[in-house]
Amino acid sequence: MKRSTRSFDAIASKLDHPVMIVTVSDGARRSGCLVGFGAQCSIDPARYFVWISKRNHTALVAEHAPVFGVHFPRIGDIELARLFGETTGDEVDKFARCQWSEGPEGVPVLAGVDWFPGEAIRHIDSGDHVGYLLDVLDGGSSKHADEPALTLQMVHEFDPGHDARAQPGATGRCPGFSTHHDRRRRQTT
Ligand SMILES: Cc1cc2nc3c(=O)[nH]c(=O)nc-3n(C[C@H](O)[C@H](O)[C@H](O)COP(=O)(O)O)c2cc1C
Repeated sequence: MKRSTRSFDAIASKLDHPVMIVTVSDGARRSGCLVGFGAQCSIDPARYFVWISKRNHTALVAEHAPVFGVHFPRIGDIELARLFGETTGDEVDKFARCQWSEGPEGVPVLAGVDWFPGEAIRHIDSGDHVGYLLDVLDGGSSKHADEPALTLQMVHEFDPGHDARAQPGATGRCPGFSTHHDRRRRQTT
């Protein structure tokens, strides 16, 4: 049955919350993208969900990444956010265009941006995105936590490197999404 999402679309288009830059490494490749879909989902243990579009380069690397780097850009980081939201790892090496260092399990840590590391313990195929449940690890940085966050409405004019919506007949870039994380990680949820 064809559903109308008119009310939802009108509400969602006006919502505002911080955006993130999520980075991953599978040991061989690095990737990362701007993320609007993300939320804390447990206090103790501290856990966080991020959703990655199946069409993104980041999706391919995330599937085998043990640790995710969840970064919270501030208003002054808008050009870094643009790099990660408007360009794709299919075409450019984003990490050649910014300052970063290696964190736990090789996850790229963006210089000067607050972040936390999260161990991917589960994933869920939620449609055109895959949700990763992250167990928040020690480490990271919160030096800029008092500064105003960069939010969705501030970057609404960005032109994403990939359109997340599935094309007719397409199944996304990682249709046979494995149970890699579910097999390897703790099943405590
Ligand atoms: C405001 C905004 C919010 C976005 N939210 C998400 C998101 O929640 N998850 C996601 O995977 N991509 C999201 N994107 C899209 C990616 O950041 C974008 O397509 C990026 O270029 C993909 O890079 P990649 O192909 O190197 O992974 C968003 C883009 C913008 C501009």
